[in-house]
Amino acid sequence: MEIKAIRGFSDILPPETRRWRMLEERAREILEGFGFSEIRVPILEKAELFSRSIGEETDIVEKEMYTFEDRSGDRITLRPEATASIVRAYIEHKMYTTDPMAKFYSIGPMFRHERPQKGRYRQFHQINVEVFGISHPTIDAEVMAIVMYYLSTVGVKRCVLQINSLGCPRCRHPYKENLKTFLNDHLHQLCRDCRRRMERNALRAFDCKVQGCQEIIAEAPIVSDFLCSECAEHFAAVRSYLETLEVSYEVNPRMVRGLDYYTKTAFEVVAEGLGAQNAVAAGGRYDCLVEELGGPNIPGIGFAIGMERLLLILPEEHLPPGPSLFIAALGEGPQKDAFSLSYKLNRARVRTMIDYEGRSLKAQMRRAAKFGARYVLIIGEDEQRSGRAILRDMEEGKQEQIPFPSLFEEIVRRVKGGSP
Ligand code: HAM
Repeated sequence: MEIKAIRGFSDILPPETRRWRMLEERAREILEGFGFSEIRVPILEKAELFSRSIGEETDIVEKEMYTFEDRSGDRITLRPEATASIVRAYIEHKMYTTDPMAKFYSIGPMFRHERPQKGRYRQFHQINVEVFGISHPTIDAEVMAIVMYYLSTVGVKRCVLQINSLGCPRCRHPYKENLKTFLNDHLHQLCRDCRRRMERNALRAFDCKVQGCQEIIAEAPIVSDFLCSECAEHFAAVRSYLETLEVSYEVNPRMVRGLDYYTKTAFEVVAEGLGAQNAVAAGGRYDCLVEELGGPNIPGIGFAIGMERLLLILPEEHLPPGPSLFIAALGEGPQKDAFSLSYKLNRARVRTMIDYEGRSLKAQMRRAAKFGARYVLIIGEDEQRSGRAILRDMEEGKQEQIPFPSLFEEIVRRVKGGSP
């Protein structure tokens, strides 16, 4: 019987893989430019890491984690996100000893057992960014500016940055009490999950997808009305620094994010064309998390971009180019020349393809078009006789003849615009 991939887990096939690489390469370029270094953390972690950081009563921990016992009887989890692992690594390797300030990025797969639908998968990929050791609101504005800059660079046209402040434990406590009272007044209208979670984590009612609960929560008190003076000042400063950087935003006072570790600034980038799963990126500040996971009192802030969702909203023309050159050769001698010329050109970083099987010129031209080659070099019998090959520029629709001995140099010059 045929074996298929697991539901919610996808193969990423060519040419789509080229789009993935383009997104990853642009992210690396931009992030390294802003002083971030790559960090690679394991895909498996102890289950406890996520329940302690993301929160016991969250959807992720309660319903979505791939947790199992390994052969040694340890409870381990396929990471549902990267922040917890990066914080763990930061603490475990005491990366704060000389200077608490550190900027990391990481790209890779995450796993959540959600119901798959457009923009929601069980294995998905994130570009994840974390900054440690900076309390100043300029960093909040900078990380948000970086997400928006990255998204526009890769070709996202219409997306909106939504921001909110979730306060700190000091202002969150009276807010939670207030919210609990409100929810209690509507207890009989709430779903079982919301009722159960209410005592320990009333904020999670905001994530509930049940229509009846959503209608009630739309009337609930909002955290921004309870901010202490420090959190209110921080939020005002973040907004003003966003304006300094000319980053537009909307304040969404009902956005609370689905993970417990956030404090103060929280944000989401929502995009058109994603349907219900409309956040292409999301993040926020987590000033207590390092300490809660056993490290010193060091603030943090970060975000993650969902790569599958990003690809869903990217316009097609942002496909990176195919090979620079396709060599279409007819006959045994020309084919052999094409074979060695292609190897030489590829080593000179001119992306070159050939047809290995000596099919008709028409079939070879079709293949060149399929791969989107910018130039096609034709070496047929006529060319063999005249000692000159034809180089056709597929974009400009022009062609010229090039003598065999200078083929390599001339192609490198035209395609790369330089010497070999
Ligand atoms: P999150 O909101 O859970 O935050 O996920 C961030 C992004 O990952 C979402 O906005 C979405 O684009 C993508 N994503 C999440 N779940 C799925 C899914 N099932 N299928 C496809 N894409 C998905 C976090 O993960 C935090 N760790 C972000 C963060 C970093 N906060 C601070 N630092």
